[in-house]
Amino acid sequence: MCGIVAYTGTTEAIEILLAGLRRLEYRGYDSAGIALQRPADRADTPNTPSTPSTSSVADTATPASTLAAEPLQVVRRKGLTELVTEADGSTRNKGMIEQLTEAVAALADTDPLRGTCGIGHTRWATHGIPSEDNAHPHRDCSGRIAVVHNGIIENYAKLRQQLTAKGHHFASQTDSEVIAHLIEEQCAGNGGNLREAVRTSVAQLSGNFALAIISADEPGTIVVTRNDMPLVLGSFEGGAIAASDNAAIIEYTRDLIFIDDRCLAVLHETGAIEYYDPAGEPYIPSGYHFDGSIEDAQKGGYPDFFLKEIHEQPRVIRDVIANRFDLKTKTLVFDELPLTDADLAVIDRLYIVACGTSYHAGLIGKYLIENWARIPVEVEVASEFRYRNPIVTPNTLVLAISQSGETTDTLEAVRLARRAGAHVVAITNRVGSLITQEANTVFYLHAQLEVSVAATKSFLAQVALITLFGMFLAQERSLLTGPQIAEIYGEMKQLPDQIEHILANTSAIKTAATACKDATTALFIGRGVGATTCYEGALKLKEISYLHAEAYAGGEIKHGPIALIDPLGLNDPSAQTPVVAVVTQSTTRDKMISNIEEMKSRGAQIIAVATEGDRRIAELADFVLYIPPTRECLSPITASVPLQLLARYIAEMRGTNIDQPRNLAKSVTVE
Ligand code: F6R
Repeated sequence: MCGIVAYTGTTEAIEILLAGLRRLEYRGYDSAGIALQRPADRADTPNTPSTPSTSSVADTATPASTLAAEPLQVVRRKGLTELVTEADGSTRNKGMIEQLTEAVAALADTDPLRGTCGIGHTRWATHGIPSEDNAHPHRDCSGRIAVVHNGIIENYAKLRQQLTAKGHHFASQTDSEVIAHLIEEQCAGNGGNLREAVRTSVAQLSGNFALAIISADEPGTIVVTRNDMPLVLGSFEGGAIAASDNAAIIEYTRDLIFIDDRCLAVLHETGAIEYYDPAGEPYIPSGYHFDGSIEDAQKGGYPDFFLKEIHEQPRVIRDVIANRFDLKTKTLVFDELPLTDADLAVIDRLYIVACGTSYHAGLIGKYLIENWARIPVEVEVASEFRYRNPIVTPNTLVLAISQSGETTDTLEAVRLARRAGAHVVAITNRVGSLITQEANTVFYLHAQLEVSVAATKSFLAQVALITLFGMFLAQERSLLTGPQIAEIYGEMKQLPDQIEHILANTSAIKTAATACKDATTALFIGRGVGATTCYEGALKLKEISYLHAEAYAGGEIKHGPIALIDPLGLNDPSAQTPVVAVVTQSTTRDKMISNIEEMKSRGAQIIAVATEGDRRIAELADFVLYIPPTRECLSPITASVPLQLLARYIAEMRGTNIDQPRNLAKSVTVE
């Protein structure tokens, strides 16, 4: 839920840390902070005791003399507190990294942030409100040790009580601060060996964490460790670096290193890294060479990542589909799956566990897998699945879908399924993410880094992959023939061009967005896979525009939600409730037309997503967003695109932060 970055080497650390935080901002954007070892510590005052201030040291009101007394330089800022007026008169909230960067610049004359060893953090608040006091890095009582933490310390309350009883003074409401005091305590007991102090402290922590720690008494050294939270390391000519995500590192090195739970790494300014297991013995970590482009993390000319990522979808679908169908044998290929024909034959139930948008991909998966492979499929929100007693046996196949591969509820669902003996297939976008270590089998989406907090391209990739997998299961059970699969696969190959066509013709979507941008609520209706397309469309709209939206199966409308349609809308267009109806060519199109008529006759404003050439819909609806014809089972992939764009345009018109909607984070690593 947070992002950490740490650097030690031969270059000034501040720019490397700020650049890293910019790349990690998607992980949490409540507040940000950095801590640097002062170069002067090495020669002048290695053991001078000092008391850290309890608020931001870089507060411009703080006198420079106080700043110079701090053994470590710490700057922290809470984001979104300052409104900026742009040249065109529009306003926006200043992001936390921008504020942090300005705070650093403001210190240039009084106490410039210099030093070649430091740590940084972007926060998504869990314990304690977003504030500068609760922002990381957190320090011990002496101010000589600073810690950044991603994760949750479950036994922090007990530890805090014990440490307080020993005289430690706490300056924040966070769970993370106990780590700094615990390390201080351990250092005092072991003669000041930071690595050993971190190791013995970590042994006392329950919960999950990725940590980076510096001490004013160990110049040029950073100790990092992790448990159940991502952490990637690398070394290069200019030193050594560690971060929560590849994106903050690949500018310096593409040879990435991963350490196991509760193992430690000690980063040195020479670039050397030592590795230790939880018992303190030397150990060899695993490595991985990353080939992706750094451009992936940049907007590429689009005003926001959300729009950029929508436009990447044709490429993403091409990549997901590529090489899955063997033309010679006319079969779908899922080489990653180690299950034999006999293993697959005894599968009698399939669970799909996921959260949010990934759950919606799972709902589409259920429809397709049951239709083609005739295996009963249950789709369950991971946070529910993990707390009940689901019927999972060794004959159950579990698909765990998680774009980030870090969602705690999904990870716990995976663990539960593994304990019950099921084979777990993870569908994820993140190479090396936690889910890849927990599942038996991994299908990668290869959608490349998704920066926008609200998912778009990863969702379409999930749907495309699960469509292929549904056909694969049917193939293995001899329920779909080679020619049947070849026909559907052939149509799938047209999807990228169809999406490009939608992206090139957006004027009707913009007009519809203008008409309903001021509404207070919107309804989405569809049937079959059209209903699940609507669930995702409504989620996108509320997430990024904050316009309240609900999605229903078309047949459910008259059982309650129709009461939301205000009859005033019959005479007053401004009172009309927008109803987005997905009514593409399908077995239930005529039923949907009846549902639209029911809503229209009560004063709703109809925005229909329909198949090109469907004139009847044009007579009924106020706005029609046409999509190219495709078979029903593939329609979620195209029909989702105008809904993503509708949400995007409405959000833009309402002036929200599209890439970083309030209260959300890209990786939800808390329950
Ligand atoms: C919505 C969105 C979230 C995620 C959910 C699960 O746009 O992105 O609903 O889908 O938090 O995340 P992953 O797929 O990373 O497990």
